Amino acid sequence: MPTQDLMDKLVSLSKRRGYIFQSSEIYGGTGSVWDYGPLGVELKRNIKERWWASMVHRRDDIEGLDAAILMNPRVWEASGHVDGFTDPLIECTNCHRRFRADLPEVAEGQCPSCGKKDAFTEPRMFNLMFKTFMGPVEDSSATVYIRPETAQGIFVNFLNVQGAARQKVPFGIAQIGKAFRNEITPGNFIFRTREFEQAEMQFFVKPGEDDDWFARWMDVRMQWHKDLGIREEKLRFHKHGPDELAHYAKDAHDIEYEFPFGWKEFEGIHNRTDFDLARHQEYSGKRLEYIDAPTNERFIPYVIETSMGVDRTTLVVLADAYREEDVEGETRVLMALSPEIAPVKAAVFPLVKKDGMPELARKIQSDLRSAAINSFYDQSGAIGRRYRRQDEVGTPWCITVDGESLEKGTVTIRDRDTLEQVRISMDQVVTWIQEQLS
Ligand code: GAP
Repeated sequence: MPTQDLMDKLVSLSKRRGYIFQSSEIYGGTGSVWDYGPLGVELKRNIKERWWASMVHRRDDIEGLDAAILMNPRVWEASGHVDGFTDPLIECTNCHRRFRADLPEVAEGQCPSCGKKDAFTEPRMFNLMFKTFMGPVEDSSATVYIRPETAQGIFVNFLNVQGAARQKVPFGIAQIGKAFRNEITPGNFIFRTREFEQAEMQFFVKPGEDDDWFARWMDVRMQWHKDLGIREEKLRFHKHGPDELAHYAKDAHDIEYEFPFGWKEFEGIHNRTDFDLARHQEYSGKRLEYIDAPTNERFIPYVIETSMGVDRTTLVVLADAYREEDVEGETRVLMALSPEIAPVKAAVFPLVKKDGMPELARKIQSDLRSAAINSFYDQSGAIGRRYRRQDEVGTPWCITVDGESLEKGTVTIRDRDTLEQVRISMDQVVTWIQEQLS
């Protein structure tokens, strides 16, 4: 399928079926900000919950945190973001649109918008942090920044968490939250936006053990995406060269996905050394050393960071799951989402709207609800169309109540991917779905 075609299809399906809407659409939208609809919010929550379960609940060496978005502005001086979190910006003197100077088209001297050649201003550095004022006075002393990464909330709480949770190095702190960047050239749907969510984990280790932990976390994180059902051939690592490394990083590997618009990063694994803790110690005047028992050795831990973009991962999941198949001369659009993260797990249909079938189907849906299995009831239109509607949004199983259900108490369950149907007792439906999800 041509590249643009797939992106257009994803954007259109997302809007039509309630995955993702443009923010403030009735006002013409907001620059590269998106809202998640009824299905999108479920999908994104399922991805986040899966991440939290594997990073926090299933480990005893990682603690959770939910730090505030607004922080003391000195945090961003210490972290290097006030001086260094910049992109080179240039303006086309013909159409007056602004771009990142390092975009490939721009580097060749041609305006990506109006096509004019060699009409750019000199680059100037543009800070990507959003600013606002705290309190009623709007002057520079009241300036605060809206966090561009969640990581700093973890660094400044390092000793709070370590002491309260009685953790010993090596251990980690995980957090999921919003981050904001005033990107010069956002785009590609939810790939590069100005408001987004990150799922980050900072793992504090003894200096000298950092390379080993870095390698371990690379494996763990790559495996996580494979377990999510992402096709392996679409995933790869990209090691940062010296000119790509962030100001805080000794080593960095991106996990990349082959999007319709090329191989791009959606998670970064960074060895941040002791850069952040040492800087916060210097700027705050508070000791951020760890005292290792039983030797009483003092050191500032090194940090291995895993930083996943939740929205980008959602785009990976959607792009990877989208399929078009020919079924008896008709195109079947299918979202082959892993059942664990699919927004709706099961749809329940009465074959016809009479003879007591709707009541039985409602009863099954009520049982699914009681077991907190997200389900959907549909009795409108031909059964084939109802199946197609669920295929398109990625519902793994469709349960149909038919004549035999009334006679023998059984229903059919159709599998979205194989199209195979099994017949089981109505009383077994909840257990059957729970077993498939476990
Ligand atoms: N704390 C480290 C950090 O923030 P990063 O590589 O700048 O590192 C990590 O960002 C992840 O956050 C990226 O891999 C990406 O998935 C996501 N991300 C960054 N900027 C984004 C943007 N403008 N829109 C959507 N996601 C973004």
